[in-house]
Amino acid sequence: MPTELQSRPQPRDGRLARSGAGELAQAGASAAALEGVSRSYRAPARGGLRRRSRGERAVQALGGMSLAVAPGELVAVVGPSGCGKSTLLELMCGLQRPDAGTVACLPAVLMPQRDLLLGWLGALDNAALGVRIAGASRAQARERAGALFAELGLDGFQRARPHELSGGMRQRVAFARTLLSGKPLLCLDEPFGALDAITRAQMQDWLAAVLARERRTVVLVTHDVEEAALLADRVLVLSPRPGRVLAEIPVQTPRPRARTAPAVLEARRRALAELGMGATA
Ligand SMILES: Nc1ncnc2c1ncn2[C@@H]1O[C@H](COP(=O)(O)OP(=O)(O)OP(=O)(O)O)[C@@H](O)[C@H]1O
Ligand SMILES: [Mg+2]
Repeated sequence: MPTELQSRPQPRDGRLARSGAGELAQAGASAAALEGVSRSYRAPARGGLRRRSRGERAVQALGGMSLAVAPGELVAVVGPSGCGKSTLLELMCGLQRPDAGTVACLPAVLMPQRDLLLGWLGALDNAALGVRIAGASRAQARERAGALFAELGLDGFQRARPHELSGGMRQRVAFARTLLSGKPLLCLDEPFGALDAITRAQMQDWLAAVLARERRTVVLVTHDVEEAALLADRVLVLSPRPGRVLAEIPVQTPRPRARTAPAVLEARRRALAELGMGATA
């Protein structure tokens, strides 16, 4: 399958990274603003595995996607598999460019759906990678990462290689690395997807606590509608491919929240209804 990922350097000083045509009047006030964004990929034509020259078809991941995220806001994105959620985050992080429309975001870091830890580094050095790349010494980077390890339940595993960690532990190391990047916009792609229910609940509480003490903007892609309602200021429900925003559901109650809080239950119910799963809510 052809990939069209492109690296694009991000400004480090809080200036907006822009792509596409035109300027967004609104972008200055937003941590992220997308306007009319479309993105297609080339993929082998259906049945293309059997014969050599079947050609290509376009798969439109996103079509006419518009959204704005305010500084300090936590926006959750839910939608059917394949509707362009990962594509959306890659656009926000400047790893892809839109075919049409504009993307304007503060410097952003992506926590990808797969953890992408480096197999030859220990857990602490994997977590500290972004700090090292930003120019810190190894000792400084390890000290900053080490402070997060206890909080994340990773104490004692600082030197473990990724293959010696459980799936949930790898995910937490990747999360630490994302957080330590220091970028103002965190794009988290199913960060708790691989975790068991108990660890996931702990990590959700921890994320809420971190966001209460640090002013970060978060775009959280999740398949877990309850998680979205529990953590987000606003839940965006995307349509099937090509993805665009079908519904915006505000969750107007302070964090930390109980799973049984009326506002959480109502947001969950509305999101499930928008996804056509109302009967199972
Ligand atoms: N590099 C690529 N090359 C070709 N097609 C791609 C590429 N990346 C994504 N796609 C296609 O674009 C569509 C959207 O993919 P994307 O990964 O953004 O969806 P998603 O909403 O994150 O899905 P999931 O919930 O399963 O993670 C899919 O049909 C996928 O096959
Ligand atoms: Mg995805």
